[in-house]
Amino acid sequence: MKAIQYSEHGPADVMHYIELPDPVAGPGQILVKLEAASVTPFDWKLRAGHLQNHFTLPMPSVPGRDGGGTVISVGDGVTEFVVGDRVAVMAGVFAQGGYAEMIAVDEKHAVKIPDSLSTIDAVALTNAGLSAWIAVRTAEVKSGDKVLVHSGSGAVGGLLVQLCHHLGAHVTATCRSTNRDYVLGLGADRVVAYDEEYFSDILTGQDIVFELMGGEVHDKSYKVLKKGGHMVWLVADPIRDRGEEFGVNVTRAMITDDKSALQGMMDLAGTGLLKPQVARTMPLSEAAEAHRLMEKGAISRGRLMLTM
Ligand SMILES: NC(=O)c1ccc[n+]([C@@H]2O[C@H](COP(=O)([O-])OP(=O)(O)OC[C@H]3O[C@@H](n4cnc5c(N)ncnc54)[C@H](OP(=O)(O)O)[C@@H]3O)[C@@H](O)[C@H]2O)c1
Repeated sequence: MKAIQYSEHGPADVMHYIELPDPVAGPGQILVKLEAASVTPFDWKLRAGHLQNHFTLPMPSVPGRDGGGTVISVGDGVTEFVVGDRVAVMAGVFAQGGYAEMIAVDEKHAVKIPDSLSTIDAVALTNAGLSAWIAVRTAEVKSGDKVLVHSGSGAVGGLLVQLCHHLGAHVTATCRSTNRDYVLGLGADRVVAYDEEYFSDILTGQDIVFELMGGEVHDKSYKVLKKGGHMVWLVADPIRDRGEEFGVNVTRAMITDDKSALQGMMDLAGTGLLKPQVARTMPLSEAAEAHRLMEKGAISRGRLMLTM
């Protein structure tokens, strides 16, 4: 099969489009012929070597935390899937990733794609969807909550806006001004454009902040929470925990390959309650260029997808 692989950390050029042996479905696994995979910020940060304090990546490595396609064989003991099923899969950090024409995964790391969703749309909901679902579950968002979602135009932020709106929260989101109408269209009640005004100068009394940027954005977000409010953060730039100082709870959303969370996203999207956001598609062979675009912040309004 064709796949993207790198053998050392470094710039996007370390990734090569090469021929690898086809994987085989082991016991309890399904073999999937992939149609698409997401390009995530985690992929390029891992490749660049920025996460070496957290993970020692076995080399060579095929990147990608998810994918979607059709089951072409099943291993012994598989009960949930048959050949021909369309599935979305979660790929482990230390296993082969989704930047490939095929992948073998444990059946507990796959869900069926609803008939109403294209495979590409389902994959746009896979890694980003897991992150958004688990963050919302961590925050225990309920109807009437005042919620601030940072980077509402990003892949995860856009899904957070949609999920919180669906749950009946009052959603304010940050993004650049050219994405204001897009984010309002996802269900935000209010947008604060970070290139026009500073959110912490104008917002107060929020019950929950979803913080996806780290650094200064994290630091300034405490001020907008009410006492007893909840800051739920995802890993980005380093943060300074100021929860005690401001009398708020601070929780990192621990994003794991949680099948029930992924199933929840698929069910909502399958019934049309959630719209997958695909920013752009590029062929698998152009993965290095896809990483360059992600690194310079040129991708907005959903996921950048690689297609096989
Ligand atoms: N395991 C984890 O903890 C975990 C999991 C998933 C994601 N994350 C992190 O969450 C972040 C978002 O991920 P993603 O996949 O959604 O990325 P993404 O699709 O690349 O979105 C990033 C968004 O950030 C927005 N942005 C840039 N500067 C901003 C600012 N000063 N204020 C508000 N928004 C700003 C951009 O908005 P505009 O386009 O409008 O400029 C862009 O759409 C990344 O840092 C990622 O590493 C962590």
